[in-house]
Amino acid sequence: MKQLLTVKDLNSELVFELFALADEYLDVAKNKGTCLDVLKGKVLAALFYEPSTRTRLSTETAMLRLGGKVINAVGIENSSLKKGETLYDTAQMITRFADVIAIRHSEIGSAAEIARGSTVPVINCGDGPANHPTQSLLDAYTIFKEYGRLDNLKIAFVGDLKFSRTSHSLLELLNMFSGNQVVLCSPEKLKLGEEYNFENLSYKEDGNIESAIKDVDVIYASRVQKERFDNLVEYEKLKDYFVFTLDLLEQNCPNGIIMHALPRIDEILPEVDQFQGARYFEAVTYGVAIRMALLTKLLT
Ligand code: CP
Repeated sequence: MKQLLTVKDLNSELVFELFALADEYLDVAKNKGTCLDVLKGKVLAALFYEPSTRTRLSTETAMLRLGGKVINAVGIENSSLKKGETLYDTAQMITRFADVIAIRHSEIGSAAEIARGSTVPVINCGDGPANHPTQSLLDAYTIFKEYGRLDNLKIAFVGDLKFSRTSHSLLELLNMFSGNQVVLCSPEKLKLGEEYNFENLSYKEDGNIESAIKDVDVIYASRVQKERFDNLVEYEKLKDYFVFTLDLLEQNCPNGIIMHALPRIDEILPEVDQFQGARYFEAVTYGVAIRMALLTKLLT
């Protein structure tokens, strides 16, 4: 494995190999203070030019728990991109400092552009609304931990399907497996774009949240992505279109799980944390383990 720019860099065999490695790392990922020496002497450059809490800190934690070190650039304002340096030239620099690069940027294709200028592996940690493949790995790992499979599942994607890169990448990952039935539930203006076509998924649209989530295995909720809107009046109209309450879940999907890449704003009320199927915080722990597995696979 040379890079992770999109889910297309994965295959089902590799996904399960990463899960098996993540299982081995899970205890270390959970135990603060513990650290291995698998990547001793290696350096991760974390270039986060767009806001992040989980992905940056989870990736950095994964590197540190494997005994590696981290250098980072946070925000365009604090980097030479602000002076006009290109991503390609940035990559030419960073590849001389680090053994692996993790990048988040608001432009589609930015990770690929960094990879073009890099001789070390590149991990796409979110390129605009397009891809977030490490999130899809941890989402799939969370589903696998729950159901022991990634096929023959019923999954409802609810929220902003136009701009949610985590939904796009998870759909693409689920498309690798057979028998998955997907329900797409979004406001009309935030429907999944026609450029997304998943030939192995059987999917239908349902704009009614109650019927969309009825007895599915997994609800994958997404935030309306404010940062992708040109018109904030439009955002205000759509941001609370779907709101998960405890009652909604207990009435319509009592045995399923609800996931969300986070941050949540108003689309999942805090009371939902009591729902027996709430998995969005647990998934964050899985994220450290799966990123440890990914870094190991890329660097050893
Ligand atoms: N899940 C996720 O991408 O969160 P951050 O934006 O905080 O990294």
